[in-house]
Amino acid sequence: MRDHVDTAEGLRLRRWQAADVPAVLTAFAEPSMAWQTAEPVTSPAAARRWLAAEAAQWDSGARFAFAVTDEADTVLGNVAVGAVDRRHRTGWVSYWTLAAARGRGVASRACRALAGWSFEEVGLFRLELGHRVNNPASCRVARAAGFAVEGLQRRKLEYDGVRYDVELHARLATDN
Ligand SMILES: CC(C)(COP(=O)(O)OP(=O)(O)OC[C@H]1O[C@@H](n2cnc3c(N)ncnc32)[C@H](O)[C@@H]1OP(=O)(O)O)[C@@H](O)C(=O)NCCC(=O)NCCS
Repeated sequence: MRDHVDTAEGLRLRRWQAADVPAVLTAFAEPSMAWQTAEPVTSPAAARRWLAAEAAQWDSGARFAFAVTDEADTVLGNVAVGAVDRRHRTGWVSYWTLAAARGRGVASRACRALAGWSFEEVGLFRLELGHRVNNPASCRVARAAGFAVEGLQRRKLEYDGVRYDVELHARLATDN
């Protein structure tokens, strides 16, 4: 199984490394990232735990998280396919980018590259993702990466005592 992907636009998806602790800390220090992990990532030790957990998930085959970098290996973000179900050949996609890297197509292109890798290397058929309806940037990323809207999951997620509707998107191996 290939463990990296190079895109035509000069992005690289590669496995996370121990040396990425500073980038992980910078990423999670940004306020809109607070809800992306169950455990806050606010110290080097927490960043190391996050990296170790992702490495263990990769090794178990349940979840594959990639650092997204530029050609100089500067970390720009993360794309992942998790909840890998080999019986039904499904997976759950997620992504985030560092604040400094936003608004230039990094998440959209990396998500598209992750989908291709998941179909070709893992043999998945259906990839799902969901975003809060008040996260329009994530919706734009999903659409740009070829994930069609499938419906609204009413009040699926709870953050700080508030429940949010989630829009579900999916992309199939047979989609364009
Ligand atoms: C959502 C996120 C991943 C987008 O990353 P990005 O690298 O900036 O995404 P891209 O540049 O590929 O595309 C962003 C798209 O959203 C649009 N966008 C950005 N901010 C927006 C906003 N506040 N409202 C509406 N659209 C917005 C951009 O114009 C672009 O649309 P386009 O393709 O039509 O031009 C990033 O903002 C992030 O990490 N947010 C915090 C974590 C998060 O919400 N992750 C998703 C959880 S479901």
